[in-house]
Amino acid sequence: MNILILGSGGRESAFAWKVRQSALCEQLFIAPGNGGTGAYGKNVNIDPNNFEAVKALVLKEKIELVVVGPEEPLVNGIHDFFLEDEALANIPVIGPKKEGAILEGSKDFSKQFMARHGIPTPGSQSFTNENLQEGLAYLDNHSLPIVLKADGLAAGKGVLICQSIEEAKEELQLMLGGKFGAAGSLVVIEEYLNGIELSVFVLTDGDNYVVLPEAKDYKKIGVADSGLNTGGMGSVSPVPFADAEFLKKVEERIILPTISGLKKDNIDYTGFIFFGLFKVGDDPLIIEYNCRMGDPETESVIPRIENDLVELFIAVAEKKLQYQQLKISAKNAATVMIVAGGYPGDYEKGKYITGIDNIRNSTAFHAGTVTEGGMIKTNGGRVIAITSLQDTQFEALQSATADAARIYFDGKYFREDIGFDLV
Ligand code: AMP
Ligand code: GLY
Repeated sequence: MNILILGSGGRESAFAWKVRQSALCEQLFIAPGNGGTGAYGKNVNIDPNNFEAVKALVLKEKIELVVVGPEEPLVNGIHDFFLEDEALANIPVIGPKKEGAILEGSKDFSKQFMARHGIPTPGSQSFTNENLQEGLAYLDNHSLPIVLKADGLAAGKGVLICQSIEEAKEELQLMLGGKFGAAGSLVVIEEYLNGIELSVFVLTDGDNYVVLPEAKDYKKIGVADSGLNTGGMGSVSPVPFADAEFLKKVEERIILPTISGLKKDNIDYTGFIFFGLFKVGDDPLIIEYNCRMGDPETESVIPRIENDLVELFIAVAEKKLQYQQLKISAKNAATVMIVAGGYPGDYEKGKYITGIDNIRNSTAFHAGTVTEGGMIKTNGGRVIAITSLQDTQFEALQSATADAARIYFDGKYFREDIGFDLV
């Protein structure tokens, strides 16, 4: 079958790399793709949020399966758009409809969902301009630090951790005043958790699900988790502190009630669910859902999946996931993200990249790159994810880090300590 992957990051590169290995995939298209995805299929320069352009491509290339990488088209209703269009209604979309994507699209909705279905999450309350005074009074009695979250999508920037009541009050007013645009017109005030973060993923057909390998993302720009938050500077899978007993708790307390909660709420969800978790003591709590896979978690998770990914996607579309047995490699994956100098602040694009062919024990998943005249140039903040799959975690970390050092472009930066805190 002909398959279309929507998106342009390292996550979509990992999807494309894996889908290309399936005997079920005839032609593969990636829209818009990046400077690396052309190696697995054909890049088509259209915006995934331009649904009419996606439709034209799907019909022209006789696409039979669409995999949506990023959240935005899902929250904007791309799956609904397909179902409502006679010519597209029979083409499966991997990714939820709007009613499911709202788990990521509205933090207030997701907190209410968690509460309704008894899923452990830190305590919270939501406020708008209408009840700002109540919000300020609520902050007066809040323990420190205080977590403020813009309700809507804010490009990963909508979470603030405030160290004083005054700061939280000021930020609450700024957020409600439009600091993050409409995304912040509703703000969730949440208790701060002291624990260690990890991500767990499932692929579901709405009735059945498979639990994918867990991963840990490194969000801070600097070594030893210092400095500003980024989209993610690296990842590892498996996660040593997520032992079988802990993962069993995750399944019983978080995954199962989420799947059954979706059913109880009449939300027919097909696609990935990303559970953003904290391990506090020995117990899991959830701080967020995403309606997609993580980036750079995907680059560590996908190489550990031994199944044919297209077979899994077809099982999702046919609601037959119960017949699929996941085969997970016992090997360890480590991903190191190479970024542009200045990221996550201002950075330049258009720097020539060399040395990709010199990497030895890893796969280069392109993210912010573009091919121009046969040369590869930087085209984003997160440029290339280097993933190594090895017998031990230490070897994987060493190989990914050493291979990240073999790639060069002006201003290049990567964290040399990704994952070493865990070994
Ligand atoms: P998000 O944008 O929702 O992924 O949140 C960004 C980061 O904020 C998370 O990765 C956590 O590190 C941190 N965070 C979010 N909620 C909490 C919380 N309740 N307690 C502590 N840290 C949090
Ligand atoms: N790496 C975190 C995310 O994809 O949201």
